[in-house]
Amino acid sequence: MYRVQYSQRGPVPEDVVEVVEFEPPTLQDDQVLVDVLAAPINPSDLLTLTGDYGVLPKLPATAGNEGVGRVRELGPNASSLEQGQTVLLPVGIGTWASHIVAKAPHLIPLPDQADPQQLSMVTVNPPTASLLLSEFVDLGQDDWVIQNAANSGVGGYLIQLAKMRGIRTVNVVRRESAAAELHAMGADVVLTDGDDLPERVHAATDGAAIRLGIDAVGGPATDHLASCLTDGGLVVNYGLMSGEPCHVSPKALVFRDITLKGFWLAHWFQTSSREQQKALYGELTALIASGKLQARVGRTYDVRDIRDAIAEAGKGGRDGKVLIVPKTD
Ligand SMILES: NC(=O)c1ccc[n+]([C@@H]2O[C@H](COP(=O)([O-])OP(=O)(O)OC[C@H]3O[C@@H](n4cnc5c(N)ncnc54)[C@H](OP(=O)(O)O)[C@@H]3O)[C@@H](O)[C@H]2O)c1
Repeated sequence: MYRVQYSQRGPVPEDVVEVVEFEPPTLQDDQVLVDVLAAPINPSDLLTLTGDYGVLPKLPATAGNEGVGRVRELGPNASSLEQGQTVLLPVGIGTWASHIVAKAPHLIPLPDQADPQQLSMVTVNPPTASLLLSEFVDLGQDDWVIQNAANSGVGGYLIQLAKMRGIRTVNVVRRESAAAELHAMGADVVLTDGDDLPERVHAATDGAAIRLGIDAVGGPATDHLASCLTDGGLVVNYGLMSGEPCHVSPKALVFRDITLKGFWLAHWFQTSSREQQKALYGELTALIASGKLQARVGRTYDVRDIRDAIAEAGKGGRDGKVLIVPKTD
């Protein structure tokens, strides 16, 4: 059995991790041994390894924030689960491993017939996309939103959820090659970023008044979104893909009453009720399990190949999310 551990943080994320072999544990009380089926590598995981994320675990730590597994063995008092049950792994438990031990009440049963790779990405990106659409601007049928990094995991979920809710999307990408897949997901408009974005958005939407811009990039890209909004519009930044501070021109802030705010799912967890969380995850899990909500999966790696996996996840121009899919030998 293997897990990915790190005892220091550093600028090159793949350089700080090591693969540690461990023996099958003797389970106590309500502990459960789980075979990890799939666990994604998200940008937040890379920021955690470099030390740039908003919350950092104590060192040494096992890497990986979310994932899905299958119950392999039950401790003497782990009566709430059955062997073979597919389960959602607890957030932050260290999911880049071939096996993990967790307490039975911390494991959420998932539909066994659903695709575990798709389910492994449910904890972070789908609720982020859903909440970005619902928490800031009251959007109705045929209203427009504009987002950048639209071919990201979050961006893809947002396109699909917006379509289900009758909301229209302008999707900004940094390379033309990403456009076709976004149209296939239900994107209304796909445009490449640039200084003349407002004119192109105006033409593509027939001059629609867009009140919400959703920014995962920062730097000048934030201002490009702000320039596409109607007066009084809101830009919500939720990601830092460019590594640059968000630029918004004083002209937009002063003369056009544009507002810039941030969103972090971790804050929503602190401020929402248990019932709201269960309702949102129930809805999203059902959509993913039925295949109605999907993310593209790029390359998959065994846990022992974690350094290659992290290097791939840090590259631009990927064709989907990099997943750890432990080999069962
Ligand atoms: N605030 C929250 O609660 C929250 C929750 C979830 C995710 N996030 C954030 O949301 C963002 C997207 O996450 P994800 O998992 O959906 O990402 P992902 O699937 O890994 O995709 C990354 C995206 O970023 C684009 N990108 C990379 N570098 C860029 C740059 N310098 N300029 C412009 N675009 C760039 C990529 O475009 P190419 O394909 O062209 O390389 C791709 O579209 C990340 O910043 C993540 O940390 C935040």
